[in-house]
Amino acid sequence: MSATPDLHGVWKAKIITLFPSAFPGVLGESLTGKALQEGLWQLETVDLRQFGVGKHRNVDDTPAGGGAGMVLRPDVLGDAIEHTMAGVQGNWPMIYLSPRGRPMDQRMMQSLARADGVTLLCGRFEGVDERVLEHYGIQEVSLGDFVMTGGEIAAQALIDATVRLIPGVLGNQASTEEESFSSGLLEHPQYTRPAEWKGRTIPDVLMSGHHGKVAEWRRDMSKEITRTRRPDLWRKLPDSEG
Ligand SMILES: C[S@@+](CC[C@H](N)C(=O)[O-])C[C@H]1O[C@@H](n2cnc3c(N)ncnc32)[C@H](O)[C@@H]1O
Repeated sequence: MSATPDLHGVWKAKIITLFPSAFPGVLGESLTGKALQEGLWQLETVDLRQFGVGKHRNVDDTPAGGGAGMVLRPDVLGDAIEHTMAGVQGNWPMIYLSPRGRPMDQRMMQSLARADGVTLLCGRFEGVDERVLEHYGIQEVSLGDFVMTGGEIAAQALIDATVRLIPGVLGNQASTEEESFSSGLLEHPQYTRPAEWKGRTIPDVLMSGHHGKVAEWRRDMSKEITRTRRPDLWRKLPDSEG
């Protein structure tokens, strides 16, 4: 087991995984890494292998009813979950990363950032024994409609998207308010210097210094991009937006 020092009241991710060395991974870089070092959020990994049974610390067995692959055992998972959740209080969801789960979205991350912390169960092989999900009331959350070999990358995606919403993690809080999904719209195009690159120029309005016109242009572009690329999001907007 490995953990950053316990800081009361700080958002914490507890991760149950067969591969604790995969963490913090990319979360240890850049803004999330700096915030981790500064104690703005915390990370604890729980090595599922430590709860394995027998001489070889087995964590899996063949699927009941036959079929390919292996399934993570409920007794092993149960011991790991009870160890991980001992003493946990407050608003603390338990999530199993799973292709069957509810697809991740910004609203989910906003809700997780308001929680006291989260416990993430990373599956491997054919996944986990269903009884564990039922017994502990674990929610299933998906990174998208594809199948990966394990839940670790999905867990890192969820933590990254959540941690950056914790006050103080990003230098400029306004950037989370204006970016894609926060208002239900995708973000407008962004440009920076040089003003001309390979014969392409920055739209004049962005160089005009007229804040009102810049805001109007950005809003119009956000609407157009959302309408054409993501009609599913567009349809969910109130009539006044559309
Ligand atoms: C090979 S997958 C198991 C797939 C499972 N047999 C199925 O068909 O739904 C192994 C593990 O990877 C993780 N995983 C795979 N795809 C995922 C996704 N799209 N989102 C979140 N986790 C995923 C889950 O934790 C899963 O238990």
